[in-house]
Amino acid sequence: MASGPNFMDPVCLLESVNELLSVNQKALQILGEISQPVVVVAIVGPYHTGKSYLMNRLAGQNHGFPLGSTVQSETKGIWMWCVPHPRKPNHILVLLDTEGLGDVGTDESKKDSWIFALAVLLCSSFVYNSMSTINHQALEQLHYVTELAKLIRVKSSQTPDRVEDSTEFVSFFPDFIWTVRDFTLELKLHGQPITEDKYLENALKLIPGKNPKAQTSNLTRECIRQFFPRRKCFVFDRPTNDKEILANIGMVSEDQLDPKFQEQTKNFCSYIFADARIKTLTEGIMVTGKRLRTLVVTYVDTINSGAVPCLENAVTTLAQLENLAAIQKAANHYSKQMAQRVSFPTDTLQELLEEHVACEREATAVFMEHSFKDDKQEFQKNLVEIIKNKKEDFLMHNEETSIKYCQTKLDQLSKTLIESISAGTFSVPGGHELYRKAKEIIEREYHQVPRKGVKANEVLQSFLQSQVAIEKSILQADKSLTDGEKAIAEERARKETAEKEQELLKQKLQEQQQQVEAQNRSLQEHIVQLMEKLARERENLLREQSKILEHQLKVQEDLHTEGFKKKCEEMNAEINRLRKRIVDTKNDDSTLLAQALDNLGKRIASLLPAPANILSNVVKGVGSLFKKK
Ligand SMILES: *[C@@H]1O[C@H](CO)[C@@H](O)[C@H](O)[C@H]1NC(C)=O
Ligand SMILES: *[C@@H]1O[C@H](CO)[C@@H](O)[C@H](O)[C@H]1NC(C)=O
Repeated sequence: MASGPNFMDPVCLLESVNELLSVNQKALQILGEISQPVVVVAIVGPYHTGKSYLMNRLAGQNHGFPLGSTVQSETKGIWMWCVPHPRKPNHILVLLDTEGLGDVGTDESKKDSWIFALAVLLCSSFVYNSMSTINHQALEQLHYVTELAKLIRVKSSQTPDRVEDSTEFVSFFPDFIWTVRDFTLELKLHGQPITEDKYLENALKLIPGKNPKAQTSNLTRECIRQFFPRRKCFVFDRPTNDKEILANIGMVSEDQLDPKFQEQTKNFCSYIFADARIKTLTEGIMVTGKRLRTLVVTYVDTINSGAVPCLENAVTTLAQLENLAAIQKAANHYSKQMAQRVSFPTDTLQELLEEHVACEREATAVFMEHSFKDDKQEFQKNLVEIIKNKKEDFLMHNEETSIKYCQTKLDQLSKTLIESISAGTFSVPGGHELYRKAKEIIEREYHQVPRKGVKANEVLQSFLQSQVAIEKSILQADKSLTDGEKAIAEERARKETAEKEQELLKQKLQEQQQQVEAQNRSLQEHIVQLMEKLARERENLLREQSKILEHQLKVQEDLHTEGFKKKCEEMNAEINRLRKRIVDTKNDDSTLLAQALDNLGKRIASLLPAPANILSNVVKGVGSLFKKK
């Protein structure tokens, strides 16, 4: 057995128990720990056809998956083996081995169909393994493909005049690889040597006429050609003629096997290692081990509830989970960066706001990187709100640190003054002049204290306010001054206080303006990043829609070449729908963008303080820009 953590050992992923499919928690745990993208290879086919041997070779092991002879025929299910990808660093190769398919037309065939459908849904390379030749019988055993249209849904709701659900299979279906074991023929067509792929394509040509016996396999051929645009074939000789070795093929070293077989196995493995793709969902959504775990759970729950697994629903479930995590990641990034970059208290509010805008920009980028299908920007709006709250906490903290520091400094500086007042030092003729000088010194020294923060003036101002009454009584008590002089002095003090009030008010207004501007910048930043992301998503969607159209055109062309005129014509309506859809997607582009911006902008504007209502106009302006485009 392979050593090391259970990561290296095959485990049962799911099995069919009574009427239900049951998922193995241990397998889910393994997947849940894989954050790397996965290349998923599933192998499917009748019993005793040497599937496990190929799986073991792909895992770089001699044994691991139970080989045919030891398998309990009653277990139906999918086994899983996760290994580091041998060629792609930071990728995981997930091998899925299905057990127990093949009893055509029995009570069991319903379960078999689900296991088959799940294998198709979960993998990026689908290997169908069969014996001797691709003939009528082999195709009949693969009849499960003809049921896929009933067992898998792409969209959650059907609206009239839209593209057929199964037409969209090609956008997320795996590559199809047929492995033919103990191949007994020569690779020749009309006496000419042909490649393995050509052999497969030839075997998939439709049978003309109405022979009822050929009808089933004919339908299988049609479905394979429709659903799997990328097809590949590998044929294998008998591994050995030695019965002894054959019986222990899991144990013997490779060089005891037929050299031809060794080479064929090597070619197959090289192809998988080099060409098997990362598992993706529609619109290029890449699947990691964690995401695969969610897919398994979602699909199996759906099947057990008696419904048909639906790709769109699975993607929505996935997006909900991941977008929540993306918000968390982004919010954490913001908090961490702010705490790291800002030394509290900052000299000015602007200084703090600059850092805030920069950190929010980064946080938004983190969110964009980890989120997808945030169709109504619900999650992004949520992030905006969370960051706004965090920002307010930082602003508050900045003010509190400033107040505390300023208060301490001012207490120190004014200590003597306060003591002198209590001691009556200023209750003498000329006391008012003494008092004014002492107070001026405090103010001057206070101004020289560095890094007092945003509340420096306010703290000083409230100190000065507290002195107004005291100064007045010192002035009134000062016998060295005439009434006229007292009136002048009082007026001067009043003016000074009023001026300082004015200054403070000015500062507050300016700070409010700075806050609005910072919000505006944040909003612009959100919009820019959202637009970039939407543009990328649109591109993916268009690329996918074009790919689907291209494939349909190819299928039609092939049918034309093979002479099935009627079938060709039947495809026209669907092809026209696909063409129209691409045009619609292109036209929709600007409308959707405008909607997204309105969505996000309204939320942000509603978070702003009152004077910032101007902003909502700015937002509407941006939205309409796109409507015109
Ligand atoms: C096979 O399919 C083609 C296209 O649908 C059809 O024209 C032909 O009659 C079918 N052959 C048989 C034997 O059913
Ligand atoms: C918001 O920013 C945009 C672009 O930077 C600018 O044109 C607009 O005048 C700003 N609005 C406010 C209210 O500051």
